[in-house]
Amino acid sequence: MEIKYRQFDLKNEDFAGITALFEATYGEIDRFKKRYRWQYFDHPQSGLNRILVADHEGRIAGASSHLPFPLLVDGRRLEAFYASDSMVHPDYRRRGIMETLTRLNAESLPVIYAKGTNPGMYRLRLKFGFREVAPNNYMFCMLAPIAWLAAKMKIHRKQPAFIDGLRAKKLEARPVNRFGDEFDEFWAEISSKYPGISIRDKSYMNWRYLSHPFKKYRPVYIIENGRLVSLFVARGEGYSAYVVDILWDCENKDEPSKTIRIIKQYLKKSGFNKIYFWATLKALRLAMKRNGFIELRDTPKFTVFGPADRIGRLADGGNIHFVDGDCDSEYL
Ligand SMILES: CC(C)(COP(=O)(O)OP(=O)(O)OC[C@H]1O[C@@H](n2cnc3c(N)ncnc32)[C@H](O)[C@@H]1OP(=O)(O)O)[C@@H](O)C(=O)NCCC(=O)NCCS
Repeated sequence: MEIKYRQFDLKNEDFAGITALFEATYGEIDRFKKRYRWQYFDHPQSGLNRILVADHEGRIAGASSHLPFPLLVDGRRLEAFYASDSMVHPDYRRRGIMETLTRLNAESLPVIYAKGTNPGMYRLRLKFGFREVAPNNYMFCMLAPIAWLAAKMKIHRKQPAFIDGLRAKKLEARPVNRFGDEFDEFWAEISSKYPGISIRDKSYMNWRYLSHPFKKYRPVYIIENGRLVSLFVARGEGYSAYVVDILWDCENKDEPSKTIRIIKQYLKKSGFNKIYFWATLKALRLAMKRNGFIELRDTPKFTVFGPADRIGRLADGGNIHFVDGDCDSEYL
């Protein structure tokens, strides 16, 4: 069987070939149909998106996508990518197609990060030389134990709903309807203070958190004395809240504890019982623990592949601020 490996032409090729492969692989297609336009075409750097496909006589037998994931590590910009939508048609499995796609991507992309939603794919990546990013497990905080018990016992309670905002003395938590220049100014002030962080700007934030076709996020600015001092992004699922992004000024000694306390207050007032929060940066995890979070065993199986002399640094999650909002497993 002759398989040709080539880049899918996102500008001119009919996307139906990828959609058909997705349907054959996963069965469920509705969410993908809603998501793919947003992910591949509306992304602010969509020109950098790529899909490597395994083509068998014009039929797409396998595919592996990569989206731009630029990082700032030790003060240097790094053009990393993250893997998404890795799939091989059931008729073509166990012939090494995914191994070949992984190898070709690893040879052509400078650095690849991936979250492994499937054990087979995770195994394949580790076998290939991907390194696990650590720490890599979820953190959890019980906000309202009695309310949690009531929900467990199916005692009817109002569904949570994000409140409009919070005000306390000189502080205000204000929902963001659109990220503007104030975000870019804030980013310019804080980004270089992190040992490592994924690079964002207002267009990325608007795309990522305010235009997803079916995931609803609530971005919130923390304003102190009229100045933007930190922000977070949350998503609700039943009585659970997921904190998927957070930014603060690393030089402020009260942070990130101060922002974590506001997040807890905001989410509790919104009616949530518990918080899940995935983040790797050591300082942030310590602050979470000081503020009532515990570590869970679950991990999104976050891995990285890159040059041998840098992979240790790139896998050191304790020194790079990664959040759930990065990469795809959160928005699939
Ligand atoms: C996971 C998935 C992408 C693997 O694709 P694949 O092309 O079958 O993968 P490969 O053939 O490269 O490797 C799979 C296994 O076949 C083995 N293999 C490779 N070539 C082989 C051959 N010629 N003969 C027999 N076995 C072979 C590999 O060693 C590997 O073994 P392992 O699972 O014991 O480690 C595919 O099963 C899939 O699409 N699954 C559903 C979608 C999914 O979960 N995607 C991942 C989302 S993170």
